[in-house]
Amino acid sequence: MEELPRPTLFDFHGVSMTKYFTDNWDNIQNFKARPDDILIATYPKAGTTWVSHILDLLYFGQTGPEHQASRPVNEKVPFLELSIPGVPTGKDLADRLPTTPRLIKTHLPVQFVPKSFWEQNCRVVYVARNAKDCAVSYFHFGRMNSAQPEPGDWSNFLQLFMEGKVVFGSWYDHVNNWWEKKQTFSNIHYMCYEDITEDSAREIDRLCSFLGLSPSAEEKQRVAAGVTFDAMKQNKRTNYSNTPCMNQKVSPFMRKGKVGDWKNHFTVAQNEHFDEDYKQKMKNPALQFRTEV
Ligand code: A3P
Repeated sequence: MEELPRPTLFDFHGVSMTKYFTDNWDNIQNFKARPDDILIATYPKAGTTWVSHILDLLYFGQTGPEHQASRPVNEKVPFLELSIPGVPTGKDLADRLPTTPRLIKTHLPVQFVPKSFWEQNCRVVYVARNAKDCAVSYFHFGRMNSAQPEPGDWSNFLQLFMEGKVVFGSWYDHVNNWWEKKQTFSNIHYMCYEDITEDSAREIDRLCSFLGLSPSAEEKQRVAAGVTFDAMKQNKRTNYSNTPCMNQKVSPFMRKGKVGDWKNHFTVAQNEHFDEDYKQKMKNPALQFRTEV
């Protein structure tokens, strides 16, 4: 894979998408999930890599260096809808995964998830992050990743984000519709980035209860130590340092890892405008996000 031509955004069944996530559409829709597959679903920049690594360590951290040490997280946890020239599709990687369970990542809005995941009653871990930090993180990701459309400057990108004219569409629809799905499909564990930041041990415990895992205190400590921001930033299997379409000199993939970095980006006027718009779009009192911890 080389640096990619920046893709253009288009409307795809009502959601802004690019060809890098729609080119393999029929195969994705026909993906055959297995009952023990675990789907990690997120809006981009919500902490996907963090939770993928937590799950990978919980399931496979003890199975020896040949599994754990060698392969990067994006191979161990394939990105289902990814279809970019020069690398195997996410769907093919998922089909070929030798592990049980298979950990599979998606950013798809809930209505686009292949139906076999629901039919097989797979467990789904959904991770959400507050909209302001998500927007900031997504802006920097767009700057450094040639597989993303040009983000323009911050004020331009923020406007696009609010209008849902970014890849995978509206943050507001994504988090709301996944929350709605959880009301009828009980196998969804809905987590928040802010909660993991606040107390990763507690969130790992909650994840384990959902997954039916009971690691020893020592194993839990090992996982918690392996998934700190600093550990993952140093770890070449989690920092995307070998991904040619990402220019880490522009902005590192493991950038800041903080709750509240939005305060360094939003002007007072942008913040007021954003809050006003947010109130109109986020009417469900059960779904509350923290913008600081
Ligand atoms: P920032 O850009 O705010 O630093 P995703 O994996 O969904 O693309 O999300 C990437 C974001 O999660 C980045 O946010 C990254 O730094 C953050 N992140 C990844 N691992 C983390 C960790 N162990 N602790 C805190 N934040 C983490």
